[in-house]
Amino acid sequence: MSYSVAVAGASGYAGGELLRLLSAHPQFTVTTVTGFQSAGQPLSSAQPHLRSLADLTLQPTNADSLAGHDIVFLALPHGKSGEITAELGDDGLVVDCGADHRLTEKADWDAFYGGEYFGAWSYGVPELPVGNGKQRSSIVGSTRIAAPGCNASTVSLALAPGISAGVIEEQDLVAVLAVGPSGAGKSLKLQYLASEILGSANPYGVGGTHRHIPEIQQALRAAGATSPTISFTPVIVPMSRGILSTATARITPGVSASEVRSAWEAAYADEPFVHVLPEGRMPRTGDVLGSNTVLIGLAVDEAAGRVVTVTALDNLAKGTAGAAIQSANIALGIDESTGLPVDGVAP
Ligand SMILES: NC(=O)c1ccc[n+]([C@@H]2O[C@H](COP(=O)([O-])OP(=O)(O)OC[C@H]3O[C@@H](n4cnc5c(N)ncnc54)[C@H](OP(=O)(O)O)[C@@H]3O)[C@@H](O)[C@H]2O)c1
Repeated sequence: MSYSVAVAGASGYAGGELLRLLSAHPQFTVTTVTGFQSAGQPLSSAQPHLRSLADLTLQPTNADSLAGHDIVFLALPHGKSGEITAELGDDGLVVDCGADHRLTEKADWDAFYGGEYFGAWSYGVPELPVGNGKQRSSIVGSTRIAAPGCNASTVSLALAPGISAGVIEEQDLVAVLAVGPSGAGKSLKLQYLASEILGSANPYGVGGTHRHIPEIQQALRAAGATSPTISFTPVIVPMSRGILSTATARITPGVSASEVRSAWEAAYADEPFVHVLPEGRMPRTGDVLGSNTVLIGLAVDEAAGRVVTVTALDNLAKGTAGAAIQSANIALGIDESTGLPVDGVAP
């Protein structure tokens, strides 16, 4: 079966990555692309690398242009997708790559985003341990899916197995991330100019203010935590895409190093896209570039009484567009790996 697809926000980074992956999907056919300031221009002016879709023209982003498709992917600034989805009605499958439908608690939305709260959809990180199973069971058959925040999914995937298995404590979680500036989108901002970031590592959102914190806490609560606390610090580094998260946690007293490792290996043993590396090996962002793969390296720091997880993913692929397409596959009953690369681009 073939599905018609519209991508809103197709001129942006997340929209462009959606299109790159969708163009290789055997059952999805992109028929409509929309933009905001770029509406009316050829897609190739905003996304010159997408040669197979070069005949498409960017339409205005509104309910009329998005109506009548089997699947609509939204890659819009937060606040904008909520406005559109309210007008789209109940038809078809809608996958939002923005934050508007991720948070289940209105209080979290009010504290970290503000403005109208649009309600939560099925969270699009299939591999997350949830209760006795995985998040994917909530995605099966769903018609409204919220793709994850890229930093949030990295840290959640890194820590949830330990929470779920009870081998780490839910307090005093610490995550420091090296992130590429594409995570902040394509629009011009002074702090992301090449002259500001080349040769420099720039922290931002320091001190508990980053918007992905409630999303991580929500995922860890779903994994079994009651009231997790996390110190979360992203640092922009000079690589266009990619996230390397170093997330550490106190090991539950009495739990051995091998029990710690087993928790992660068991959680992801059957996952096509999330791989725990053998002892002694750590991932690099370059290993997952362009792929839907998450690599997790794990070490037990006996002296500190902590587990150290190092996790790499591509923020635009598995961190956004890949998760969105993987979730759409699951929702529609298609093999979940369809159209998604597991191999990175190296060097
Ligand atoms: N970048 C990432 O790594 C990443 C990861 C996870 C989630 N996301 C989420 O994905 C969404 C898109 O992010 P992005 O990085 O792709 O941003 P982006 O590169 O800045 O692209 C934004 C897109 O939205 C359109 N747009 C801008 N203002 C608009 C408005 N007022 N109404 C309707 N459309 C508007 C833009 O159109 P024009 O260019 O035509 O003006 C462009 O197509 C965000 O919600 C972001 O949080 C991004």
